[in-house]
This record gives sequence, structure tokens and C-alpha cells, in this order.
Amino acid sequence: MNEEIIKITGLTKRYGYGDAESFALKDFDLTIKRGEFIMIMGPSGCGKTTLLNIIGLLDRATSGEYILNDRNIANISSTRQARIRAKKIGFIFQNYNLIDDLPILENVALPLVYIGQPRTVRLKNASEALKRFHLGEKEYYYPWQLSGGQQQRAAIARAIVSNPEIILADEPTGNLDSRTSYIVMDELKKIHEEGNTIVMVTHNPSLTTYATRVINMLDGQIDTDIKTVDDKNLPQPISVKKKKRSKRRKR
Ligand SMILES: Nc1ncnc2c1ncn2[C@@H]1O[C@H](COP(=O)(O)OP(=O)(O)OP(=O)(O)O)[C@@H](O)[C@H]1O
Ligand SMILES: [Mg+2]
Repeated sequence: MNEEIIKITGLTKRYGYGDAESFALKDFDLTIKRGEFIMIMGPSGCGKTTLLNIIGLLDRATSGEYILNDRNIANISSTRQARIRAKKIGFIFQNYNLIDDLPILENVALPLVYIGQPRTVRLKNASEALKRFHLGEKEYYYPWQLSGGQQQRAAIARAIVSNPEIILADEPTGNLDSRTSYIVMDELKKIHEEGNTIVMVTHNPSLTTYATRVINMLDGQIDTDIKTVDDKNLPQPISVKKKKRSKRRKR
């Protein structure tokens, strides 16, 4: 059975005080199992980005618990949060967020700085990640020399280069035409089939066919939450598969 990787309870994000008080998230509960591909939908302003940023440790909730791998990390220091983020979380943004004056090879290698890999290893790993997304010949191109779809594939390579357990994507196809969207979605699908956990925000209902669970949000809360794939049919992480295989061999 796939384990619970994230458990969020009573999460609230408040902006302002008194008359100006508003809530981006209200007493929000969510449990995510390893291997889920969750799509989050809902009207503009309902709190999707806020939720993703809190899960991705880019933002903090006003109150509530956030348990990641059995550890409550809601109130730990920013430095420790940053360390956990570098190791466990890959982020994909709508506008790619690549650094313009670095070639994409260096862009993709960047997350590996934070986990302490030496430069030669970083560049080798970044190069492999780019090849996987069919950008091997463009390693030394700058982001502005690539099409939108190519930039987003480079951004996905950057998100997965450090083998994070969780991939968060905020409208990753929001700036792409439909053909390019499907290319990007097929890459995410492959990453998911390898046993990775993905949480993706989208406004496009036709993309929900890729999901194992679709959550509709409304006013900072969950409106509907529908699993389209049984927990027992979620992909197993590769490491678990390997362990099982080696057990079988021993017998
Ligand atoms: N820094 C801020 N100060 C005050 N209110 C904020 C701030 N950031 C976000 N909000 C409010 O929080 C609410 C949720 O915003 P959020 O960006 O999470 O929405 P969203 O669901 O991602 O919308 P969209 O689909 O347009 O991206 C909105 O009402 C927004 O105005
Ligand atoms: Mg948003």
C-alpha cells in the first residue's frame, strides 16, 4: 500500500486584519499518498497557488499542521524548510521561471547546488535530464532562444533533476498551445508512472484524464474530491519495486 507522504490539517492562510481580513485557505485538510497524481481546479482566487506554495515550502500558513514524511514541518525555521525543499520538492511554474542569463544546462543544474553535488556531477546529471526531455542538443541555448514548450520541458528537467519525491506544478501548461500542452503532460505522465507524486493546478478540465484524483476548490476550501484511480492501483515507487524484485531473487 502506498504510504501517506503529506498530511495537512486545519491549514489556514489569512491576509490582513480586522475589516481587511481575508482567507486564502480556511481550515484546509488534505492527505496525499505516494504515487498520487492530483489535479487541483477551481475559480481564480480560490487559493490554489496559495496551497501549492505552502506545500512547496515557498510560503507559510497562518495556522495548521503540515506533516511531510511523518514530521511536522509547519513551524521549523526557514533554513531547514529550504533544505527539505531542495531535497524533496520539485516545482514547475506557469511562466517556466528559468534564469535568462544562464544556458539551460546551468538552469537545470541549479537545484543540485543546494544538495551539495560537485560541479562536474551537476552538469552530467543536468545533461542527462535534458536528454530525457529531448533537449540534449540545446544544452547551451539560453531560455530566450527556446520555444515555450521547450522552456517548460527544461523547467520540468530542472524540477526532477534532484529526484524529488514530490513534484508541484502550478498551471504548467497555462502558457502553452494545446499540442505543446499534451507533450508536456505526457512527460509528467511518465514521471508519475515511475512512482512519483504530482500535485498540479490547472484550469483545463480536459487534462484531468491524467490525474488519479481531482480536487475542486472553492473559497479556500475543498468543494469536491474525487479519486479516479483506486489507491491499490497507484504506481509503486521504483525503489520499492527494486526491493521487491531483489527479495524475489533471494528466494
Ligand atoms: N500577498 C497577498 N496579500 C493579500 N491577499 C493575497 C495575497 N496573495 C494572495 N492573496 C489572496 O488570496 C486568495 C487566493 O489566491 P491564489 O493566488 O491562491 O488564487 P488561485 O486559486 O491560485 O487563483 P488563480 O487561478 O487566479 O491563479 C486571493 O483572493 C488573493 O487575492
Ligand atoms: Mg494561481
